Amino acid sequence: MPEHDDPYDHSGQFIDPMITGWWEHHGTTVADALRDLPTDAGPVVDAGAGGGLGTRLIARTLPRAHVLAIEPSLPLRSVLLSRVFEDPHLRPRVTVDGDDLLSARLPNRLGGVVAANLIGHFSPHERDRLWEDLVARLTPGAFVLLNLPAPVEPERVGRTRMAELHIGGRHYVGWAEAEPIGTEQLSWNMTYEVYEGDRLISRDEIHYAWWTLSEQALHAEATPHGLLVVPHGPAEAGLFKVLREENHRM
Ligand SMILES: C[S@@+](CC[C@H](N)C(=O)[O-])C[C@H]1O[C@@H](n2cnc3c(N)ncnc32)[C@H](O)[C@@H]1O
Repeated sequence: MPEHDDPYDHSGQFIDPMITGWWEHHGTTVADALRDLPTDAGPVVDAGAGGGLGTRLIARTLPRAHVLAIEPSLPLRSVLLSRVFEDPHLRPRVTVDGDDLLSARLPNRLGGVVAANLIGHFSPHERDRLWEDLVARLTPGAFVLLNLPAPVEPERVGRTRMAELHIGGRHYVGWAEAEPIGTEQLSWNMTYEVYEGDRLISRDEIHYAWWTLSEQALHAEATPHGLLVVPHGPAEAGLFKVLREENHRM
């Protein structure tokens, strides 16, 4: 397995609680899409599963499905493994894998792929490899469900509070801001603060690069692989199904 350069090696401790809001807001829309996946058609991959909020949603929505949760970040995979182990409904049905998605040994037949809050970690060249690989594995009726988080073009994002959580006697605040890098990337500059009352206990600043991708660009890169891109749910969710053209006609 090639070395995975983990942008979450430090922030992984905060990601799972701080991304809960996204799942609370969009979980129903994601579940609606999952119900369209074929049953008994191979495992559903949760790609870049993080701490497993999406993994749990997949398993609960599709009670007969096996889930392959792929998560290369050690801190996030630790959360994921514990979440799966703790739940008797997940433990027999969810397999946790620590590979990078591009080097993971995927089953030949997949019943679907969920790639939530993930796509910007892949360059255009890597996405091309991904579409090439996935198109051959998707069983009839299966699709990749992904979201295109804003901004979908490189642009400056002013400092925004993305999450604030109260846990015990402390509160945790996550800030995000971004600067464009060239024509296709952003640098996300994240700050994670922990307070007890007014007293700052810790502040971590993390920077990582993110490839932006618009709906039009996704269409353009999917088409040569025989893949169609179909919006799903309200536009603000930014969710899309990527499916084989012949499946759409079925
Ligand atoms: C913003 S988090 C989203 C986690 C989860 N999908 C969710 O929505 O709750 C992005 C995740 O993608 C994972 N990731 C980054 N690069 C990856 C890669 N090359 N292959 C698989 N996962 C990757 C990260 O480790 C992280 O868990």
